[in-house]
Formats: sequence, structure tokens, C-alpha cells
Amino acid sequence: MQLSHLPSHVPTPCYFYDLVLLEKTLQTVQAASSPYGYHIHYAIKANANPVLLRRISRYGLGADCVSGNEIQRALECGFPADGIVYAGVGKSDIEIEQALQRDIFCFNCESLPEIHVIDEIAGRMGKKARIAIRVNPNVDAHTHHYITTGIEENKFGIYLYDLKHVITEVLQLTHIELIGLHFHIGSQITDMSVFRGLCIRANEIQQAMKERGLLLPHINFGGGLGIDYNEPYRTPIADFKSYFATFAQFFEPEPHQQIHFELGRSIVAHCGDLLARVLYVKEGKKRKFAILDAGMNDLLRPALYQAFHKIENLSSQEPEEKYDVVGPICESADCFGKDVTLPQTHRGDLIAIHSCGAYGETMASRYNLRDLAPAIFSETEKD
Ligand code: LLP
Repeated sequence: MQLSHLPSHVPTPCYFYDLVLLEKTLQTVQAASSPYGYHIHYAIKANANPVLLRRISRYGLGADCVSGNEIQRALECGFPADGIVYAGVGKSDIEIEQALQRDIFCFNCESLPEIHVIDEIAGRMGKKARIAIRVNPNVDAHTHHYITTGIEENKFGIYLYDLKHVITEVLQLTHIELIGLHFHIGSQITDMSVFRGLCIRANEIQQAMKERGLLLPHINFGGGLGIDYNEPYRTPIADFKSYFATFAQFFEPEPHQQIHFELGRSIVAHCGDLLARVLYVKEGKKRKFAILDAGMNDLLRPALYQAFHKIENLSSQEPEEKYDVVGPICESADCFGKDVTLPQTHRGDLIAIHSCGAYGETMASRYNLRDLAPAIFSETEKD
């Protein structure tokens, strides 16, 4: 993100969102997906800030939710109920009931016990629940093991060896309408051959279902498209064109089948930076520490996944040195980057940690009883 639109005084730490870049990204998503007629649901878990959500819903996207509260937030921010898909391995009874009341488009179901509970609750409410079965296709996303979801050792989805049996059972349930298959194999995937592998596996599954005379109207490929964390200035918008073209080339849809995606990171990651100030520069024997007023409670990704975020000192033009850029939390994992090359850094300097728009604010906590970082925007919202 370009930081030229920064207000003169920024409260730190804070999340700073570039709404112009968000709009450009959404236009790119539209241009790249509409030739194929694909349906895009924005994955709310990546960033649930209402200002961003209202912008996103205006582009006609649906929403991918994983909790009752996300469904509530999506509706409040303009996403239509008939564009909401609802996933998650542990939906509670009350969440299922509310989703049925709101008449969302589809439950993405992860186990047979869950489908039985949805059937029972829908029956009690005199409704029929539309569901898609989430298939664990055993395709390795080759991404960080914490964000790989499509192999058999993960808790997600129905395993391939169970699929036939699950479908047979589901077709007997009176309050369930099976409308599709759902896949999601992982996140931060930049190698398109992984998605090609997913298409090929989906074709095989469709073929097997066709042989049983079963044609489902919806296929949902989840999310997962990665972004360039190393060069946020050079590549501010993810490669949506290659992503959708891969599915268009390798997936063989049945006639009239509708194809869905649930993109999170690729839509919002580059639009947000975490801004912090240097509290102290501390000299160790072998290294210098730049201690920020932002910590792992504000941005957990580096501590949890050893994730790389580009760090920039916006205040200094002095000769470069190396710093470990750390936060104030009482944990050694509270480190945003080791041996980061920065211009000579001083107390009070403004630091940007780039590409934090996805899984930044939503994963923040009040650990150490710290306040949650506020969000500020590149322009005031036009509502
Ligand atoms: N659909 C499902 C079923 C998902 O589980 C996810 C993300 C998405 C869609 C959106 O995936 P995306 O397009 O954002 O890759 N906290 C981690 C990422 C966790 C992703 C969880 N599922 C991180 O900070 O890298």
C-alpha cells in the first residue's frame, strides 16, 4: 500500500486501510471472474471491519461466514442472505437455528453428525436446509502446515473414502437439500498448479457421482489465493486473472453448474498496514532491538506462523542498520522480524508493517490487557 494518504497525526498502534486500493482490488476481482460467471463470496474471517465490509458488499459479492456473529455482521453490512455460505466444523445448535431463520444460501457441512443435527433442527422449524458437502480432497496445498486444510490428517471436510456413504445417507434425510460440493484446501497458495490439482480431483469426484446419476448444481472451490508479502508495492493486487483462468481451464463443469469461490486474504491483505511507533531502541551485545508500541496481540501472524511482513521505517532516511523489530509483550515470540534492514531508527519513528489487512485485526486479542488497535482509513466513508 502507498502511504501517501496518511493523516498527519496517527494514533499508534493502529490499522490503516487504503480504501482506494480495496476498490481497485474489487474491480480486478470482478473483471477477472465475470467472464466466467463465477460467484465470489468474501471470507469475512479475513477482515470483519464494517467499513471494509460495506465496500465489499457494494460490489455484489456474497459472504463466507464461519460463525453466527459473522452472519450477523455480514447482514448488517449489506450482504444479502441468499449470498451467504456458512462453513465450520463446529456449528452450534443456536447458530444453525439462526442461520435457518435468516434463510442463508447454503451450509457447507463438514461431518455426518453435523448434517444430522441440521436435519433435526430444520425439521423442528418446518424448514429444509440447503447444504453442500465439504470434501477433503486430499490435495496438499504446500503452504504453512497450520493453514493447510485439504489433506486427510486435517479435521476438515468429509474424507474421500467416506463420501459415497455420506451422500447415500444425506439423500435420505427429509429436511436436507443437497445442492453442492465444497472444497477448501488451504490458504496463501501462490502456485497455480495446486489449484489445477484441485480441479482434476474435483473432476474425478464429479465423474464418480455422475456414474451414480447424481448431478449437483453448485461447486464451491473455497479460497486460498495467496499474495506477495515480499513486494507489496510491486504487487499490490493478487493474480486473480491466473487464478480464475486455472479453474476455467482445468475444471469441467456440468451444464448449468454454478461455480463459487470464497476469497479472503487476496481481497484485503494488501489494503491494510499496521502502524506503530518506536518506543525504545535497545542495544544488545550482538543485536539492536527496535521496540514498538504494537505487539503480537495486535498482529499474531509472525508469532503464530512465522509469517513474513515487510517492515518499513517511514520517519528516517539515515544509513541502514539491522534490527530485531519486537513488541512490548512478555513473550519471546513477540517479534515482527529478525535482522530487518532499516534506516537508523530512533524513539518516536513511525513504522509500517505491511500487508496486514487479512487476519490482522480479526486475530487481535487483548493479551496483557492491552487495548485493541483502532482502525483508520485513507478516506472517510461515503455512505
Ligand atoms: N473458505 C474456507 C472454508 C476457509 O477456511 C478459509 C480460510 C477461506 C475460505 C478463506 O481463505 P483465504 O482466501 O483467505 O486464503 N489465519 C491464517 C489464515 C487462516 C485461513 C483459514 N481459512 C493466516 O493468517 O494466514
